[in-house]
Amino acid sequence: MDGLKRLEYRGYDSSGIAILDGNSIFSIKEVGKIVELEKKIGEKEIIGNIGIAHTRWATHGVPSVENAHPHTDCSGKIWIVHNGIIENYQQLKNNLQKKGHIFKSETDTEVLAHLIEDLYDGDLMMSVKKVLKMITGTYGIAVFHSDEKDKLIVSKKGSPLVIGVGEMETIVASDVSAILRYTKQVIYLEDGEIAEIDKNGFKIFNSNDEQLEKEISEVEWDLNQAEKGGYPHFLIKEILQQPETIMDSIRGRLIPEEGLAKLGGLFSEVERIKNIERIIIVACGTARCAALVGEYMLEEYAGIPTEVDYAHEFRYKKQILNDKTAVIVMSQSGETADSLAAVMEAKRKGILTIGIVNTVGSSIARETDVGIYNHVGPEISVASTKAFTSQISILSLLTIFLGRQRDMSLVTGQRIAKELLVLPEKIKKILESEDQIREIAQKYSGATSFAFLGRKYNHPVALEGAIKLKELSYIHAEGFAAGEMKHGPIAMIDENFPSFFITPQDSVYEKNISNMQEIKARAGKIIAIATEGDKEISKHADDVIYIPKALEMLTPILATIPTQLFAYHMAVIKGLDVDKPRNLAKSVTVE
Ligand code: AGP
Repeated sequence: MDGLKRLEYRGYDSSGIAILDGNSIFSIKEVGKIVELEKKIGEKEIIGNIGIAHTRWATHGVPSVENAHPHTDCSGKIWIVHNGIIENYQQLKNNLQKKGHIFKSETDTEVLAHLIEDLYDGDLMMSVKKVLKMITGTYGIAVFHSDEKDKLIVSKKGSPLVIGVGEMETIVASDVSAILRYTKQVIYLEDGEIAEIDKNGFKIFNSNDEQLEKEISEVEWDLNQAEKGGYPHFLIKEILQQPETIMDSIRGRLIPEEGLAKLGGLFSEVERIKNIERIIIVACGTARCAALVGEYMLEEYAGIPTEVDYAHEFRYKKQILNDKTAVIVMSQSGETADSLAAVMEAKRKGILTIGIVNTVGSSIARETDVGIYNHVGPEISVASTKAFTSQISILSLLTIFLGRQRDMSLVTGQRIAKELLVLPEKIKKILESEDQIREIAQKYSGATSFAFLGRKYNHPVALEGAIKLKELSYIHAEGFAAGEMKHGPIAMIDENFPSFFITPQDSVYEKNISNMQEIKARAGKIIAIATEGDKEISKHADDVIYIPKALEMLTPILATIPTQLFAYHMAVIKGLDVDKPRNLAKSVTVE
């Protein structure tokens, strides 16, 4: 139960456990959050040495008790939990039904239990191995059979699985947060590996059945970091942490006096990196918005042609790549299935892959050729905040690193480095306007739609602001390049359709002011994010949130904070589940 609660942010529409005590099995499942399962278990005394548990993010079949995991076979002896998608499950299910197997759920996962049953001949490990050869798709699985009462089989392909090596116990989970309470000694399973775990420990085999001696890693962060620490929500904790997390991301990576960035994780490929002539940054959701800021930076300050792609588009479109192209994959969790697949696609084509990842030891971190960790600690709240601002700061470091290898001057490098180092103080200043932002959220809490507008470096901030408001308050919100409004979207504007305008005093300030006047001319309400000391702006906006002045390329890190606080308070005002918004998962490990 403790482990499930720590994983709940990854998916939370239903859950279940199965515990083996000798030959008897206790299993229970419930719809909704883990607390509902706890209520259903009540005071029942449940004992056993082997157990499996799961919290679900539905892929096949609605959230229901039947579709919740664990699933079992016709005999009720084989129990399995699964993270991933079995793509050929329907055909396998049809064959099994022809053989008389009765299915209780609509899930792809239940097929695995019946397949193992179908091939079982007294050796669970052997039948699981056979089954895994018959399926296509992704999986992280844990299985036990009540006739083999001291054995657990686990395996992974595409989905994450970590083995926690404890005293007299072995704990397996989709990520380390469910293991940390018991041990910091972990083994990350690779694709196609399978482990047989019993009371004496575990044996790990690769897909050629060779037994492996795997390296045991020490997890660097502790359980406290994964706790709320007295804040009402992980989200507000993570928003207020950003002065520290920005410093954690850049600490030891800048040589300000020489205008240089030191990125140890890139050294092994520094020669290939020197010859890069084109960059494609691949990501999803919030990480992609950060990538869009990186596109402006890398082109303007490092002079490298840069494109940004959705990972789920990158992996399926015809790519024109050569050995002077580098693919940067950015992911907080490091487990997003589409982003991981994009890494594999680029590697298949021999392209240099650079990972910018927060979760240490995650699949994308392990699969990319070289990389940079964000070092912001665990991000628990589903809505990403501190990872976003860290991703932009890491892209600024990368811009210095690549720029100074090319024609970026010492002075420019020094300027960017100096500006980066004073960001934490500027963020602290913005966080002081939280009360004002809460009042503005209250004022606009009746609105059913919002436009977010920005230009150049702050166009991605508009896109990100809209994502935050959508995923936290369920209000329809759309981010636009401000110049695009008059080409259609402005038709939506009236006194009930407010606009969030990111308008710092930068190179496109005047252009933004004209766009604000066009909206005001249609009775649109405007909340502006503006530079401290800008007296002009209040003539064009109904509400103004000020941010300190900064180098244009770094303003996105500052301008995004008010949009994060606005979305947070809008969710609180609406009484919504701030850390676990409906229908979402923190790490989308399925396509
Ligand atoms: C952001 O708040 C969302 N949770 C989502 O868009 C997220 O950014 C996206 O799923 C990518 O996740 P990743 O950074 O872990 O790959």
